Amino acid sequence: MDNFYSSSRHNVLGLLGQPGFELMRHDVTFPLYVEVDQIYHLACPASPVFYQRDPVQTTKTCVHGSINMLGLAKRLRAPILLASTSEVYGDPALHPQAESYWGNVNPIGIRSCYDEGKRCAETLFFDYNRQHALPVKVARIFNTFGPNMLPNDGRVVSSFIVQAIRGDPITIFGDGSQTRSFCYVDDMVRGLIRLMNSPEEVTGPINLGNPCEYTVTELAQKVLALAGGDSLVEHRPLPSDDPVRRKPDISRARELLGWEPTVPLDEGLERTVAYFRHTLRDQRDQRGLGDPRGTGPAARVRPPRSPVSAPRLPFATPVAPGPEPPQPPARNSVVWPRTARSWLVAGLLDGEEVDGWRRHSCSAAGAFWARTRSACSARWRRPAFSPT
Ligand SMILES: NC(=O)c1ccc[n+]([C@@H]2O[C@H](COP(=O)([O-])OP(=O)(O)OC[C@H]3O[C@@H](n4cnc5c(N)ncnc54)[C@H](O)[C@@H]3O)[C@@H](O)[C@H]2O)c1
Repeated sequence: MDNFYSSSRHNVLGLLGQPGFELMRHDVTFPLYVEVDQIYHLACPASPVFYQRDPVQTTKTCVHGSINMLGLAKRLRAPILLASTSEVYGDPALHPQAESYWGNVNPIGIRSCYDEGKRCAETLFFDYNRQHALPVKVARIFNTFGPNMLPNDGRVVSSFIVQAIRGDPITIFGDGSQTRSFCYVDDMVRGLIRLMNSPEEVTGPINLGNPCEYTVTELAQKVLALAGGDSLVEHRPLPSDDPVRRKPDISRARELLGWEPTVPLDEGLERTVAYFRHTLRDQRDQRGLGDPRGTGPAARVRPPRSPVSAPRLPFATPVAPGPEPPQPPARNSVVWPRTARSWLVAGLLDGEEVDGWRRHSCSAAGAFWARTRSACSARWRRPAFSPT
């Protein structure tokens, strides 16, 4: 289930049509009624570019989303796992960070919608566990990377790789001495599955991440060595509340789950560089711009972006990746169709730019209605009762 706020359904094209796989478009801030055995609650924009774009919605996704998923888990008596984050430690005064550390978080800063949202989600999980004896699992995920990341979501690994491949300057915020620990996605997925299937008394929180620590400058050097190219390094001011050091203490994960990362950073970066090379080459080919590396002035010529750039496609229809990487949806930027017929078409041929801000459905007879949050208010459609 996904509302594709910060992802692309192209990532799951290979799974569509496979037995046992079903894709549902839904915004987690609204109640969901389905039958499932386990719930992995990962829905939340995770990169600063996306979560700071609409901070109120980010907090709602963390808090309302968790309440809705916990309500579903309670109804089904199903175990539920929360993808929490190392951001709950804020700018940590303790190094490395163990689960017993309560953190150092600014409650009113530009990152707070995410950091405090996840902290509140953790509170809800443990209250449901105490109050309703719900089997919960809370994973505190540290920086994770790998293929299928969006090229434009501003995370350090994907940004460096894309900049290196394009020959653009590598932008380092601050002097580059801040540290991070990078876990390859395969290791993370293994850890999450292990936590979900652990005995009921294992609730977490449990740190999942790679304990090898690198400075951001070291990461840039590794990416440049792997991606090649002659990018220069450009320093920019450090954003506020950016943590100085990040390194998980994973003793608890080792002891309780028998888990630790196995993919070294260089190997993970190599696979991710290969993925982005392929993706960016495809995008350039589709734009008809010759230079696959995307360097030089010609490569910087971009066709003008239309306000509705993503192709309108039938839901879940396999297609080749579109030429434009998905952009975070701007509120109220949707070009609304005018005629009744185009309303119907927009509802049936759902485009990437239509997001959780608008809900629509078609009746069996094909009648269509669409409502905007501002016009008719989500209140109208919320059930009168809560699943909690
Ligand atoms: N990748 C990391 O380094 C990292 C670190 C810490 C925590 N996490 C957590 O892990 C989870 C997955 O992160 P990711 O890196 O894959 O990020 P992502 O942005 O790629 O994935 C988040 C998914 O949630 C979806 N989503 C966002 N808002 C939604 C909503 N209201 N309703 C339904 N779906 C919604 C997005 O469309 C996207 O598919 C997130 O909860 C994130 O907070 C990730």
